[in-house]
Amino acid sequence: MSQTVLITGTGRPYALGFNLVRRYLENGDRVFASVRRPSEALEGLKKEFPDKLHILTMDIAATASVNAAARETEALTDHLDLIINNATTASADTMKELPDFDLDLIAPAVNVGAVGPIRVVKAFLLLLQKSPAGALVVNISSEAGSIGKCYRTFYLDYGTEKAALNMLTMTLHNYFKEDPNLNILCVHPGWMRTNPDNREAPLDPYEHAETLRCLFEKKRHDKDGPVFITYEGEAYPW
Ligand SMILES: NC(=O)c1ccc[n+]([C@@H]2O[C@H](COP(=O)([O-])OP(=O)(O)OC[C@H]3O[C@@H](n4cnc5c(N)ncnc54)[C@H](OP(=O)(O)O)[C@@H]3O)[C@@H](O)[C@H]2O)c1
Repeated sequence: MSQTVLITGTGRPYALGFNLVRRYLENGDRVFASVRRPSEALEGLKKEFPDKLHILTMDIAATASVNAAARETEALTDHLDLIINNATTASADTMKELPDFDLDLIAPAVNVGAVGPIRVVKAFLLLLQKSPAGALVVNISSEAGSIGKCYRTFYLDYGTEKAALNMLTMTLHNYFKEDPNLNILCVHPGWMRTNPDNREAPLDPYEHAETLRCLFEKKRHDKDGPVFITYEGEAYPW
């Protein structure tokens, strides 16, 4: 069954969001792909899939921008079957430890990485609720957001925003518990070569996007299984 999908943070051709967009388009799905600024790579994909790809401008840190993107989407589709909250951020101090870290950078990172995805869910909720097959929201989290497994002395911003995203996901999972047509999960996607400087990561983003796409289909209606999962579908410790 072809579906209608919204994916955030999709402008970088080597990163996960763009490669998820490619995979869903190649699968025959209709994709709303959001960016903060024009992306040449995404414009290229639009030429390949003119009827299936819609590019949205949306800054997930700003409620007005997210609401405007939702209204724009409502003019083009009457439902969404899947939202993948992929966009995230990390400050320039992310690798620093306490003495050198500017703590004022944590709140803006949490605003993007944790509140941002939930802004998107809230603004697009009416479209999700109209999915004929039942909708899924996937929040792309990270092992870095696990409090139980935390070993690092850095990532003060990134770890905090992912832990907060996990908490918000579980809270919304509880909220939607009785709604058979809406499910929400958070996923540690694995370590991918999403940065041209990072050659050691084991996973290729284009290959791995297909693994994730298949996982999300398997998990769409799984409301009783683990809520924070690995890319293999196993429970990951909160
Ligand atoms: N890469 C890994 O190995 C790894 C491991 C674990 C988890 N993850 C998670 O997987 C996801 C994708 O990772 P990635 O490495 O592909 O990400 P990435 O390259 O860092 O891309 C993040 C995207 O988010 C967008 N973004 C940042 N702030 C935004 C805002 N305020 N509004 C809208 N979009 C915004 C960026 O847009 P611009 O291009 O405009 O800056 C960019 O396209 C992330 O959630 C990440 O935390 C990745």
